[in-house]
Order: sequence, then structure tokens, then C-alpha cells
Amino acid sequence: MKPQTPPRTYRVKSFGCQMNVYDGERMAELLDARGIRPATEGEDADLVVLNTCHIREKAAEKVYSDIGRITKSGRAAGKEPLIAVAGCVAQAEGEEIMARAPAVSMVVGPQAYHRLPEMLDRATKGERASDTDMPAIAKFAQLPRRAKRSPSAFLTVQEGCDKFCTYCVVPYTRGAEISRPFADLVDEAKRLTDGGAREITLLGQNVNAWSGEDARGTAIGLDGLIRELATIPDLARIRYTTSHPNDFTPGLVAAHGEVKKLMPYLHLPVQSGSDRVLKAMNRQHTADRYLRLLDEMRTVRPDIALSGDFIVGFPGETEAEFEETLSLVDEVRYAQAFSFKYSPRPGTPAASMDGQLPREVMDDRLQRLQSRLNRDQLAFNEASVGRTCDVLIERRGKHEGQWLGKSPWLQSVWFEAEPGQDPAIGDMVEVELVEAGPNSMRGTLLEKVAA
Ligand code: 5AD
Ligand code: SF4
Repeated sequence: MKPQTPPRTYRVKSFGCQMNVYDGERMAELLDARGIRPATEGEDADLVVLNTCHIREKAAEKVYSDIGRITKSGRAAGKEPLIAVAGCVAQAEGEEIMARAPAVSMVVGPQAYHRLPEMLDRATKGERASDTDMPAIAKFAQLPRRAKRSPSAFLTVQEGCDKFCTYCVVPYTRGAEISRPFADLVDEAKRLTDGGAREITLLGQNVNAWSGEDARGTAIGLDGLIRELATIPDLARIRYTTSHPNDFTPGLVAAHGEVKKLMPYLHLPVQSGSDRVLKAMNRQHTADRYLRLLDEMRTVRPDIALSGDFIVGFPGETEAEFEETLSLVDEVRYAQAFSFKYSPRPGTPAASMDGQLPREVMDDRLQRLQSRLNRDQLAFNEASVGRTCDVLIERRGKHEGQWLGKSPWLQSVWFEAEPGQDPAIGDMVEVELVEAGPNSMRGTLLEKVAA
């Protein structure tokens, strides 16, 4: 590679989960701290970071086609952009990317992105650099202070996964479960609220496996962390995602009934309603155990909105087993859910299992599952009509006077303000939900809620 002038502009493109969004924001801050500015809409950046996701199909192919597109568009604009591949595809396929894509000068795994600036120095000298080491999370201590002002912020508290579900690449790409220390998290949460955050979503691949020691040295779990964060006066809302059923403690269930700032929403993946399939997936719980856990949640927090993840067409899944998933959905009545066709991930046990299913079967099952999930999401929204709730305003709508935010149940809510009401981004306002759509609610603004 030829030596280059240092980049003046960058673009970070994040794919996949919220943890990638968080990581992408941290990488952007590292580049900001270097005096590199974000490229404007439509502008070809001097440096492009592709922050990739490997969880489902065609991730790597997408990366290669993105690289081709970026190079071509850069050339047309008379530049040769520096390209960094970050995230889980970088972790899983870093060497192949280096071999196959000469335009890529940096490959940086999810545990190494704090080294991006050093790698950039080498790349501008014409060297290619790759770092996919997985040390215990050293990166957090080396990241710059967070500057972005947003009413709703993410905070990574835990990373990695030890569960080894047989279909999943996460234990390989994100490594073993690690919890960030309590004091660092309290500190970062305070900095976020000082910067204007009113809501914090605690992130982790297995967030409810978080463990640590509080200020007095007492061992605590996620519920203890939540209770501590709830004492930050400017913080109004706490959420967390994603959880595993086996890491639920009675303390965390109880926190949902006791901590007012903990929002009535739970994303708890189940993947399948069939015990045979759950076993083959190595989920280590039954459908019944999952359902009982949701019962406990509803007992302490009757209005809780439930969300889940599903995989259809896992190897060997029969029609009857798929119907068990549909029955589970009918029993739970999710407020929201995410469903996917099984995608064989290289190197995972399920990828070499017998009984891989044809695409048509998966398409059909996904469509049937999604129509039930959509039915339930609309029903949940319809049942919310008439409720009065707080909405945290996140942005302006497309039309003059229109505002968008989230209800406690994570519904998108839009409303129009009358002249004189003057809401602002970051305000918590009281809204009556008056109309339900499949993906959002219309509200009417009642009043501003005191901070
Ligand atoms: N195929 C399809 N879906 C998957 N997920 C994880 N791995 C796979 C895979 N190989 C889904 C699961 C998980 C969500 C983040 O992605 O439902 O909960
Ligand atoms: Fe993947 Fe299972 Fe770990 Fe979730 S719990 S990240 S699905 S291995």
C-alpha cells in the first residue's frame, strides 16, 4: 500500500446489534479526538470504518461488496479511501479479509478497537495492520470521554458469552463473558447524564450475567447495579438488553416490581417453543421454564411489555415442533419480537447437524410466525390506547410541530405540540396515547413532566 496523507474525514458504518452501535460511537469518538471530522451526508470519506455483524447470513459477502462500492465511489471522487473492517466479521474472518481485499488496510476486532488510532498511523505510512486479540476488556479504560449528547444512551456493562448455543457465533467473535467494574459504570452513567442523557440502556450479550462489587465490596448482580444507577437524580429511565433466561435472579425479577426507573419492558429471547429443539440448540432451559419466568415478571410488573427472539428452521425442526413455537407465541402475546431464519454459521456445531431445512420451509415458517407476532404487536398497541404515560422526546418529526419519543413500553410515540407548548428534545412529557399503528402510537401532549 502507498503512504497516504492522514485522513481528514471519516465515516463509521455500524451493522447489527446495539452493542455495535455503541462500539461504532466509541470509534467515532476516538477519531474525533484525533481531529478527524465526520464526513457529511453524501461526501466520500477519507476513512471508512465498516463495523460489521456476523450473526446471520451473508455478512462477509456484504462486507466485500461494501468495500468494492467504497473504493469505486472514492476513485470517482479522486481519492483512495482508507478502509478499516471492525466488528464481528473482522474477528471471525480477519485473515481472509486481509488476503482477499487489498483495499482494506485495517482489521480490528471488537476487543481491540481502542487501538484504531495507532493502526491508522501505520496505515497512513502504507502498512496494513490487523488486531483481533481478545484480551480482557482493556479497551474501555482507553476510550476518550463521551461527548455525544443524546437523551437516550447506551452503556456497555458486559460483553461476551459463555453459553455456546449451537447456532451462534457470538462466543467465538465476542469471546468469554466479562463484566465491566461497578465504579467505572457508575462513573460513565453520571457522565452520560451530565451530558443530557435521561435514559440509559445497559448493554451486554448476556447483560443479566453482569456481576461485580459495589462501593462497599459486596458482591452484586445486575439488579444491584440498576438500584445504584437509579439513585442518579437526572436519570429517569433504565433499560437493559439482552438477557438469557438462565441468568435471571430473584433479585432482578424483584427489581422490576420495586425500581420505578426500571422500565416495564423485557427483551428475553427464547428462540423456539419446542423442548427438543431448545435442547439441540443447547439453550439449557425448557419452554415451560421460560414461560414461568415470564409469569413471575408479570406478577411483579403486570403491565410489562415482553419481547423475544426466534429462530425458525433450526436443523431437524419438524412442522409439529415449529407449531410449538406458534403455541408459545399465542401464550405469551409479545408486545414486540424479532424472528429470523436459521442461518448456518461456519464453525458452529449446528452448521454441521443433519436435517438442514430447505429455504422454502424456512420462508413459510418465518412468514407464519411473523404474522402472529405482528398481530400481537398491533394488539398490544391497541390495548395501550387510552393510557396516559411519560414520553421521552428523542427527536423532531418530519412535519413542523411534530415530535417523536418512546413510551415506557418502548413504543415509538409521535404527537403534535400546540403553539406555546414548546417541548424540546430530552424533555419527559405526559402524553395520552390515542391511536395505535403496527409500529407506532399517536399521542396527545398533556404536559411537561418536571425533571
Ligand atoms: N441464525 C439465525 N438467527 C440467529 N441468531 C443468532 N444466531 C443465529 C443464526 N445462526 C438470532 C437469535 C439471537 C439474535 C440476536 O439473533 O435469535 O437471539
Ligand atoms: Fe449467542 Fe446463545 Fe450467547 Fe445469545 S446466549 S449470544 S444466542 S450463544
